[in-house]
Amino acid sequence: MIGTTEDGPAPTAPVPDLSDPTLYRDDRATAILDGLRAAAPVHRVDRDGKPSFWAVLSYDLVSRALADAQTFSSTGGMRLDADPVATAAATGKMMVITDPPRHGKIRRIVSNGFTPKMVQRLETNMRSTAIDIIETALDQGECDFAEVAARLPVSVICDMLGVPREGWDFMLKQTKAAFGVGASTADAELAAAAHTEIFLYYDELMRQRREQRQEDIISALVHGSIDDRPLTNEEIILNCNGLVSGGNETTRHATIKGLLAFIRNPEQWHRVRADRSLLPGAIREILRYSTPAMHVLRTAARDTELGGRQIRAGDMVTLWLSSANRDERLFPDPDLFDIERSPNRHLTFAHGAHYCIGSALATTELTIFFDEMLRRVELPELTGEVRRMRSNLIGGVEHMPIRLRRA
Ligand code: HEM
Repeated sequence: MIGTTEDGPAPTAPVPDLSDPTLYRDDRATAILDGLRAAAPVHRVDRDGKPSFWAVLSYDLVSRALADAQTFSSTGGMRLDADPVATAAATGKMMVITDPPRHGKIRRIVSNGFTPKMVQRLETNMRSTAIDIIETALDQGECDFAEVAARLPVSVICDMLGVPREGWDFMLKQTKAAFGVGASTADAELAAAAHTEIFLYYDELMRQRREQRQEDIISALVHGSIDDRPLTNEEIILNCNGLVSGGNETTRHATIKGLLAFIRNPEQWHRVRADRSLLPGAIREILRYSTPAMHVLRTAARDTELGGRQIRAGDMVTLWLSSANRDERLFPDPDLFDIERSPNRHLTFAHGAHYCIGSALATTELTIFFDEMLRRVELPELTGEVRRMRSNLIGGVEHMPIRLRRA
C-alpha cells in the first residue's frame, strides 16, 4: 500500500487502496483524494492480492489522459475490478470499451437514433413522469428519496430504447436487480436472472423493430450497419445494456445528491426558486458537486509518462473525475456548493472520444425534475440518517429519508 519510487518521484506517505468500496461509504474519500492530490497529481496504488493501478487526480492530467485514446485505451474495461471475462467478451462490440476508429462507428449509429422528433417526445414524457413522481411522493409525505429518484432515469432510458410505457415498471425492477450495486452471492444470482429477463425482452423488441422501424434507439441499432454489415444481436444487446448501465444510477445519484446539497445549503434553493434563470447554472453545479461516476479506467497501450511517473504498456490507469472536479486550481473553494460558480467546466461527463453520449439527456432530465420540485414543494427536510453507497465507481446515496410539503 505504499507509493513506490522505482517509477519516478513518489510521495512518501502510504497511498490508501482507492479501490476499497468502504472508503466511499462514510465520505472519507473526499479528504483522502484532496490530500493525495495536494501531494502529487499521480499516485501508484498497490493492493494486497490484486493488481496495482495508477490514480490520476489533477484536472489537467485527467483531461489530458481522457483526450488521448491512443495511449489510454478503453479495451481493458472502463471501471476498476469489472469481471475480466465479461469485459473481454464485450470489447470491440460495446461502445464504452471499444477504441477508435471502431468506437466512432458504433457511436454514430446510436447518435443518429437521437432524432429531433424522439428528443421532443422524451422531453414531453419526462415532464409528465417527473410531475407524477413528485405528486406521488407529496401524497405520501415521507419517503426515501433514494427510491423516488430511481424512477425518472429508468423511464427515460426505456422510452429512448423503445420499451413501451407498460413495460417500464418491469424494466425498473429488472434493471435494479441486474445493475444494482451489491456484492453477495444472492445478489449475483438475482442479477443473472434479471439479465436473462432483460435479454428476452430486448429479443422481442428487436424482432418487432426489424419488421417496423420506430423513432427509438433499438430501431437505430437493428437498422444500423458498420462496414456494410448489420450489427449482431449480441452487439445490439450489449449497447442497449451500455445505455441502461451508463444512464441509470448516474442520473439517479446526481438527483439525490443535488437535493441533499440544496437541503444542506438552503439559501441556494431559495435563490434559484426566486430566479429560475439560475437553474442551468445550478444543474451544472449539481453535476460537478455530485460527480456520480467517480472514476473511469484506462489501460496504457504503450509506455508513457504522466505527472513525472513512468507508466508501462499494460498498466491500469484510473482517472478520478471526483478529484478533478474538486481541483482548487480550476474550482476555487471547491467544497462549496455554489450555483453561480462560473466558469464551471466540470468533468462529470468525462471528455474526449467517450464523452458521455447521454449528457444532454441527463442535463434535461435534472433540469425538468428540479424545475418541477421548485414549483411544487417546499425545501424538503431530512428525517433520518443519510446512508452513502459502498461502491468505488458510483458516488451515491442509497438511503435518504425526507419529509415533503406542498409549496
Ligand atoms: C459515457 C457519466 C448519463 C450513456 C459516460 C462517461 C461518463 C459518464 C463519465 C465516460 C466513460 C468513459 O470515458 O469511459 C454520466 C453521468 C450521467 C450520465 C454522470 C448522469 C448524470 C447518461 C445517460 C446515458 C448515458 C442518461 C444514456 C442515454 C452513456 C454511454 C457512454 C457514456 C452509452 C459511453 C459513450 C462512449 O463510449 O462513447 N457517461 N453519464 N449516460 N454514457 Fe453517461
